[in-house]
Amino acid sequence: KKGAYPYYMLKEIDEQPGVMRTLIQEYVNEDGSVKIDQELLDALSKADRLYIVAAGTSYHAGLVGKELFEKLAHIPTEVHVASEFAYNPPLLSEKPFFIFLTQSGETADSRQVLTQVNEWGYPSLTITNVANSTLSREATYTLLLHAGPEIAVASTKAYTAQIALEAILVKAYGEAKNIKAAKDFDVAGELTKVANGMQELVDEKGDIEKIAQDMFATTRNAFYIGRGVDYALAQEAALKLKEVSYVQTEGFASGELKHGTIALIEEGTPVVAIITDPKTAAHTRSNAQEVIARGANVLFISSRDVAAEGDQIILPEVDPLLSPLVSVVPTQLLAYYVSLQRGYDVDKPRNLAKSVTVE
Ligand code: M6R
Repeated sequence: KKGAYPYYMLKEIDEQPGVMRTLIQEYVNEDGSVKIDQELLDALSKADRLYIVAAGTSYHAGLVGKELFEKLAHIPTEVHVASEFAYNPPLLSEKPFFIFLTQSGETADSRQVLTQVNEWGYPSLTITNVANSTLSREATYTLLLHAGPEIAVASTKAYTAQIALEAILVKAYGEAKNIKAAKDFDVAGELTKVANGMQELVDEKGDIEKIAQDMFATTRNAFYIGRGVDYALAQEAALKLKEVSYVQTEGFASGELKHGTIALIEEGTPVVAIITDPKTAAHTRSNAQEVIARGANVLFISSRDVAAEGDQIILPEVDPLLSPLVSVVPTQLLAYYVSLQRGYDVDKPRNLAKSVTVE
């Protein structure tokens, strides 16, 4: 039920702090250790490389997962678009382990890959929101997102739930393998900070509603730029804006923009710069200056520790690897308001279905 909400998308955006808390309750013990099936951890521990396979928003959650697995647990991780992997698989390592990320558990492109993986005889895990879904039944192991039904076609809370559960899994894996960076990672504490930060952001929706009106009312195209996890987030933010508002939007690595795409910047083109990483903040700011010099209208979304004067949205501080969990919130709200202000049905964008069951 959407209750007092005009659209499910807004309700589902607002539910995200609660989803973080539910995941902590479901998967983390009082003492901070993680409750995950030992058999799954044993199988994961034997792998020499992880292959995350997914589509759309779930693929974008996989991009953040790669950072978590590699930086905190030191296991090489590849992320693949399911429809590409299906008919053009990469060379696999000797002991691969497959992770399927899927809100619905029914995406045909991912099912095609899992069928192949099962034929090869490799172990797999499906991370999904739907118990007993096809991908859950056909994989060796399943972890549930516990995000509650996601009705809006545009995925919001499933994205944040997937990243949070990846972080929890990384913690468990790191404990099992005795890896210091993962052992030192207080996943419950960090996700609680995230939940509080998300709450601050959803409580300030009015700011985003106004930015949508001021910067995006009539634009036909837009860009998101960032580096590292901010680039991963830029890709998700762009998908969200384009699918519900039909504004042609691309997410770019900010350093790559000058290698061609900058030719598209015109007077008034909206560019959203996501800046959360101190290592690259100055670089992304200088890329933003390059587009400002060509007439772009830049919206800066930055975390408190790297914020500069004049930045319009300041994000609460969280662990840098988890920053997409908070930076995504204003981008989801922006997509919602741009769509609403243009008079579209936000929950049911044209040409799209909630789960894509054809290849
Ligand atoms: O159910 P899945 O997570 O497997 O779905 C994958 C994509 O179809 C899905 O994320 C799609 O991109 C959404 N409309 C994005 O908002």
